[in-house]
Amino acid sequence: MISIETAASSAYIVAALLFILALAGLSKHETSKAGNTFGVTGMAVALVATIALAIDRDIEPLGLALLIGATAVGAAIGLWRARVVKMTGMPELIALLHSFVGLAAVLVGWNGYLHVEWHPNGVEADLLHGAGLLGIHSAEVAIGVFIGAVTFTGSIVANLKLSARMKSTPLMLPGKNILNVGALVLFFALTVWFVADPALWLLVAITALALLLGWHLVASIGGGDMPVVVSMLNSYSGWAAAASGFLLGNDLLIVTGALVGSSGAYLSYIMCKAMNRSFISVIAGGFGIEAAPASDKDYGEHREITAESVAELLGSADSVIITPGYGMAVAQAQHGVAELTRKLRERGVNVRFGIHPVAGRLPGHMNVLLAEAKVPYDIVLEMDEINDDFDNTSVVLVIGANDTVNPAAAEDPGSPIAGMPVLTVWEADNVIVFKRSMASGYAGVQNPLFYRQNSAMLFGDAKDRVENILQAL
Ligand code: TAP
Repeated sequence: MISIETAASSAYIVAALLFILALAGLSKHETSKAGNTFGVTGMAVALVATIALAIDRDIEPLGLALLIGATAVGAAIGLWRARVVKMTGMPELIALLHSFVGLAAVLVGWNGYLHVEWHPNGVEADLLHGAGLLGIHSAEVAIGVFIGAVTFTGSIVANLKLSARMKSTPLMLPGKNILNVGALVLFFALTVWFVADPALWLLVAITALALLLGWHLVASIGGGDMPVVVSMLNSYSGWAAAASGFLLGNDLLIVTGALVGSSGAYLSYIMCKAMNRSFISVIAGGFGIEAAPASDKDYGEHREITAESVAELLGSADSVIITPGYGMAVAQAQHGVAELTRKLRERGVNVRFGIHPVAGRLPGHMNVLLAEAKVPYDIVLEMDEINDDFDNTSVVLVIGANDTVNPAAAEDPGSPIAGMPVLTVWEADNVIVFKRSMASGYAGVQNPLFYRQNSAMLFGDAKDRVENILQAL
């Protein structure tokens, strides 16, 4: 008969492998559903093994009831939230979930401290002391609490910014870079001190410092960089979980935390490259970015167009590129857009889609919507694949996109989004911009595209306007 300990260790290895398969699956659209199933299965295996292990270790009945109760309540809330969340609300939900991982790491760290260092003559402290490992335990507590607390408040600010309950403009405290670097230096000093003398007030100070740093790091990042921040907090939450794994002696938590930590860091790096941002600058909370003066430049008059005129324009076009953005998701216009695409293709028009890497509110947002509306994959192109084709395109339909088609990023070095690669829609013969007003996009930056000679604004809800064009066609 194998012991529960051995069975649980084997189950942990199986779960770790399932998590690796989940990551591999999630990297492609075609395999993402399978990847998700691997992840859910891995988590179920891990939960069952953990509960079995707790029972085997003679957990008190109250502890067992709490463990099972918390798992059931957590699973129910998770299922409910996942069912009701809209695609556009995903990033803020993800940010909120990261804050839970951060909080859990803080609680695990504090629990470790109260059980060991706080009880200098307790059994566990004695054992660790005897093995000369007490200092390592204290360092694990300090590091785990620090990463967890930074993740906790950072993720809460990210959630507030993404749900528009906090302004997306970067907070510009004087000397913010010195504040960030100073906080890190202070953390190292406090940790060394804590390892030498694990006093309660030191852990309180480390926790408070990390909570403030997490808040400040994310508050100082502007709207345009938020996608990278979400994936960076994902990475932090992984490292926080790994730190908890060391404290709890749980190998699966260490492996899973390292997987999440490193894949999140790599995703942040890829996104920074796509947006021409310095990785170090973003992870350090906008390090080196100075406040740009708010631009209220006068770009002249914009021109309006009706749905009927757009239909006429499309009727005589031979090539059309559609660049969707967040507004298409808000309006749920993807089905109408797919129908319009089909109609135009039937008439022999070459219709393609240009997808910016951060269009919408999460990576792949537009691809998912277009796939759902059954737009063929082969006409949906990435920004790099289509950017050279705009100058021989008759009509571009910018449907609810704004920052991702802003020429200021390419032409105005003083713009807060300067250097971010954008879809060069203005090179086409005609650009039609679908939106409801002249308001700016997520990054809060004016868009000179709307005032160009070859641009025209089609105001109103994108879904209604697409319907109007379909009728007129
Ligand atoms: P945005 O720049 O946010 O622009 C969306 C536009 O859609 C707005 O100008 C808005 O104008 C319009 N709109 C909203 N509802 C509409 C409706 N019902 N009908 C028609 N138009 C509507 O979008 P984008 O170009 O997709 O750029 C994405 C931005 O979000 C970037 O700044 C990016 O950094 C940021 N972001 C991205 C992610 C990821 S990972 N993709 C995550 C978080 C943030 P009106 O209000 O005038 O209608």
